[in-house]
Amino acid sequence: MAYEINDTEFKRFSSLLYDIAGITLTDAKKALLTGRLTKRLNALGMDTFTQYFKHVTDAAHADELQFMVDLLTTNETYFFREPQHFEFLRQILPPTLRQGQVFRVWSAAASIGAEAYTIAMVLADKYGVDGAWEIHGTDINNSVLEQARRGHYRIAEAEKIPTAYLKKYCLKGKGEQQGTFLIDKRLRQHVGFEQLNLNVEGMRKIGDFDVIFLRNVLIYFDIPTKQRVVANLIPSMKNGGYLIVGHSESLNGITTALTQIKPTIYRRL
Ligand SMILES: C[S@@+](CC[C@H](N)C(=O)[O-])C[C@H]1O[C@@H](n2cnc3c(N)ncnc32)[C@H](O)[C@@H]1O
Repeated sequence: MAYEINDTEFKRFSSLLYDIAGITLTDAKKALLTGRLTKRLNALGMDTFTQYFKHVTDAAHADELQFMVDLLTTNETYFFREPQHFEFLRQILPPTLRQGQVFRVWSAAASIGAEAYTIAMVLADKYGVDGAWEIHGTDINNSVLEQARRGHYRIAEAEKIPTAYLKKYCLKGKGEQQGTFLIDKRLRQHVGFEQLNLNVEGMRKIGDFDVIFLRNVLIYFDIPTKQRVVANLIPSMKNGGYLIVGHSESLNGITTALTQIKPTIYRRL
């Protein structure tokens, strides 16, 4: 069954998504919202968006709210996206790590994990698969994190992975797994994933990171949300640590706590 959404219904859903995730959906996103929620309305046997809104905001169906957020986030990502950032990472890696030092990176809008495993390949290349490095991946969307934890992808997604890394760190699927690849367990054991909403006022500090990747998520946020999200990340950065945003993003007017060292790279000094 196809559904129409009226202006009032669209406003209700978009402000619910804004309140939870900080994501702004302009009127131009009406078709996107309708398309993504239609399957869910069908599955629940509902006739209108008003009915679904009542369902999703009813405390008795708390899981449905997460389900809706999962449907409405945009999770586009790929391995070695914006490759200059990984070149930069290589350049700032200490040649050797001190006794007891662990190099820590946070992929703060990790989606299906392509960014986190790209970082893992760079760190494994530098410090070895048994080296002292850790990657923490987080996202508001629970279903993408399930795939991230599995580290299992369609072979088409390997397109941008350098051949040497593909051979060293990825296992080509055989038999039933033909057409897929799996991130080697020796890399996966350095990478953990956790569900985390960056838009929570006064979010807890989640670690001490040398580098945070916050790429291609600020584009969905208005200025107050960007300010809140970036303020949430700063306590989890080491002094001297780096924050990297996407190539179309900037922290101009968002924080004074970080110093810009390149167009999309900031440092806590
Ligand atoms: C377009 S993807 C970017 C993935 C990756 N960082 C990259 O650059 O390829 C944006 C991700 O941000 C996540 N996201 C959106 N709002 C969020 C929030 N409030 N807290 C945490 N993650 C959020 C989405 O679920 C989505 O997976």
